[in-house]
Amino acid sequence: MPIITEIEDLKRLYKRRAPKMFYDYCESGSWTEQTFRENSSDFDRIRLRQKVAVDMEGRTTASQMIGRDVAMPVALAPVGMTGMQHADGEILAAKAAEKFGVPFTLSTMSICSIEDIAENTSAPFWFQLYVMRDAEFIANLVNRAKDANCDAMVLTLDLQLLGQRHKDLKNGLSAPPKLTPMVILDLMTKWRWGLQMLQTHRRTFRNIVGHAKSVDDISSLHSWTAQQFDLRLNWDTVKDYRKQWDRKLILKGILDAEDAKKALQVGADAIIVSNHGGRQLDGAMSSITMLPQIMDAVGDKIEVHLDSGIRSGQDVLKALALGAKGTYIGRAFIYGLGAMGQQGVSEALRVIHTELDTTMALCGEKDVKNLGKHNLLIPKDFSGDWQ
Ligand code: GLV
Repeated sequence: MPIITEIEDLKRLYKRRAPKMFYDYCESGSWTEQTFRENSSDFDRIRLRQKVAVDMEGRTTASQMIGRDVAMPVALAPVGMTGMQHADGEILAAKAAEKFGVPFTLSTMSICSIEDIAENTSAPFWFQLYVMRDAEFIANLVNRAKDANCDAMVLTLDLQLLGQRHKDLKNGLSAPPKLTPMVILDLMTKWRWGLQMLQTHRRTFRNIVGHAKSVDDISSLHSWTAQQFDLRLNWDTVKDYRKQWDRKLILKGILDAEDAKKALQVGADAIIVSNHGGRQLDGAMSSITMLPQIMDAVGDKIEVHLDSGIRSGQDVLKALALGAKGTYIGRAFIYGLGAMGQQGVSEALRVIHTELDTTMALCGEKDVKNLGKHNLLIPKDFSGDWQ
């Protein structure tokens, strides 16, 4: 087994092993990819305060996210088509998360279904929901999540329509892939992926196929979202979901202090400061730069989480020190999955945990719950002087 010391190692292997179409799907932002890039590069603008001669024995990264004990406050984010990055990808990632003691979030647009995850894991998982036009299908989907013992719903608010990612259109992204000459040529070098795919029957959007009516082209994420996602989604819709769902509700895609206040009024249990990994509104600010204002607006009244741009334990630490109670990794675990299946996801979690733990210690902290702004050096213009 190759020696993995950083997330980049997993990414390199992933690029070699996963079909180009799915690598590109993961590794893209919308349009110019400015927001996608800045999500990560803006973390680098924050520096850490070194503290020396502090007793470092007995450290802990354990904390809670929405009342659930976690080994570290890093959940696996919902990622569409994960089961195309590696056969049975969502099941493998959920198993790795369970073993590590962090939450797994299943995307509506997953390959493995809600039931597949429930049958193959025992820890409760979180279910990410997209609001769709077909009310009967959605009601059924929510009931399936309840039956599968999902203890939180992550309602995504920033994707009624899809931000354009050029490569997906050019690659003809679909699940399973259509065997064009270009795809066949690519798959010839991805034999490991192909062999594993041949051994599973899970090769399409299993939350949807066989459950939703009137879908013409289920293989294409683009046509499915265009046909089915509900453009009418608004804060009243969110209120209705709050009424119907009596377990924890997390609102994903909040990037603005005013929206954060609305989420609070609706009675959500947590919000995720997120721009969908830079995959939706290109030109939006990075999540980490918006976190301070959102913390000022609602941080003492609602649990605030953050995703988009996290590739290391140092990034996690910075988000926590700015006030987030939880973080999510998407691409960072997909790299591991595409590189080495379940073991790769475990490696991604291990790498991030080690980075978080060691960095915390070098900052002079023993408990992840004690991290705060006192651990950071934040440039005065970090959040920008915008009008
Ligand atoms: C869907 O959630 C996507 O970002 O592709």
